[in-house]
Amino acid sequence: MTTTETATEPSWIAPGEQGFLVGEKLYLRAPEAGDANYALAWHPSPYPIIRQRAEKILKEEFPKDGDKRLVHLIACRRSDDIPVGAAAYDTRVRRTAYVKLHADPTLGDGAAAVKAEILGILVPWLSAETKKMVVWAELDAPTPELLAAADAAGMRPAVRLREAIWQNGARHDQWVYERLHPRWIERLGDSGRGIEQEAAPRAEVPTSRRVSVPRPAEPAPKQALLVGERVALRMMEPDDGKEITRLLRHETDVEWAGGRWIASSQQFARWYEEAVEKDPPAELNLAVILRQSGALIGVMELIDIDLFHRTAETGSVLYLPEHRGQGLGSEAKLLLLEFAFDHLGLHMVRSFVDSYNPRSQAALRKQGYRDAGRLQWTDQTDEGFAHAVLFDLLASEWRARVNRADES
Ligand SMILES: CC(C)(COP(=O)(O)OP(=O)(O)OC[C@H]1O[C@@H](n2cnc3c(N)ncnc32)[C@H](O)[C@@H]1OP(=O)(O)O)[C@@H](O)C(=O)NCCC(=O)NCCS
Repeated sequence: MTTTETATEPSWIAPGEQGFLVGEKLYLRAPEAGDANYALAWHPSPYPIIRQRAEKILKEEFPKDGDKRLVHLIACRRSDDIPVGAAAYDTRVRRTAYVKLHADPTLGDGAAAVKAEILGILVPWLSAETKKMVVWAELDAPTPELLAAADAAGMRPAVRLREAIWQNGARHDQWVYERLHPRWIERLGDSGRGIEQEAAPRAEVPTSRRVSVPRPAEPAPKQALLVGERVALRMMEPDDGKEITRLLRHETDVEWAGGRWIASSQQFARWYEEAVEKDPPAELNLAVILRQSGALIGVMELIDIDLFHRTAETGSVLYLPEHRGQGLGSEAKLLLLEFAFDHLGLHMVRSFVDSYNPRSQAALRKQGYRDAGRLQWTDQTDEGFAHAVLFDLLASEWRARVNRADES
């Protein structure tokens, strides 16, 4: 910024101080207390907040996010230093960065240009200067400006999640773009785009299904929310943590999670207690129990439940190896989908699986999920880098499948 471009309001950043992360019209800086007056510019929720809440986020929550290597940046106009947008990037995996962009919605059509410029400033910096192997950016319902900026920043499509975004009265696909560091492409080779732009949804979904039994004859386990032929779902309770830790001690498969999982019963208890503190909750942890005995055998989760876009991520684990591969997980998942789509009214769900977990991928495809793309170099194995395979499933597809099975 030149001294002639300075403005007097607001004055918490000295004009001209910012020497990098500067674009043609914007620059990016760390959040400041004064940003509480500009929450629309940086708070990405569709639900507006008041200044007091903004102050708390800036003072308490953003610094805590920093401890977790989730970095927040505020985008200010160079002409008057006013915040107009924001970016947050997650570097919990140090080799990579996952970027989310936001622009003040009151800018109207101008919001697209703000997001495009933020991306154009941030992604090359993360890649070239901070040497991230991969930089991903979530482009929600991208505008042509944003796609052009992604292209100019050397990014390409990695994932498309169908109809995941509710914006301006309509549903849109959500795209994730990625930039692979050229030096790592030289070393590791390039396995191509995670997804092709023109990838079409599957015309047909498998016809086999299991959904809850409408009026289950006894025995129906106590507190069961949904009951299937062999398994049922109930809310996970803090006390279940003891049984889960006991079951996890019997894990023999060292592959699916990149090493066996160890966690204390107190940790599980805290998760399940905290998960129900918010109303509406951001996640739901449902215990998978055997219908006959009521024994706890696994968990089905809805994570990042977003009641605005009406989306969530699904996750599932059967704790003991001997329960896997018999269709129990798929039966429980179809109960979870019934809960997600019919009870909560979600529109679509997504799921992430490591490339070294072919069983989970096969199970998702069998359950009707569609391949939605791939995020490169997310994890490492003895053979080299692994990637995350993404899946999505629409409520309409799930319903079509249920109805077809009802007719047969
Ligand atoms: C993922 C999980 C919940 C699925 O439940 P499940 O009851 O095992 O699933 P299903 O038996 O319905 O389906 C598994 C499918 O994978 C297939 N499969 C098994 N091993 C496979 C492999 N190595 N490669 C490809 N497919 C494989 C099975 O043949 C089966 O398909 P089919 O019924 O068409 O034959 C369960 O396997 C599990 O808990 N795994 C460990 C935890 C985990 O991986 N969680 C997911 C993290 S993303």
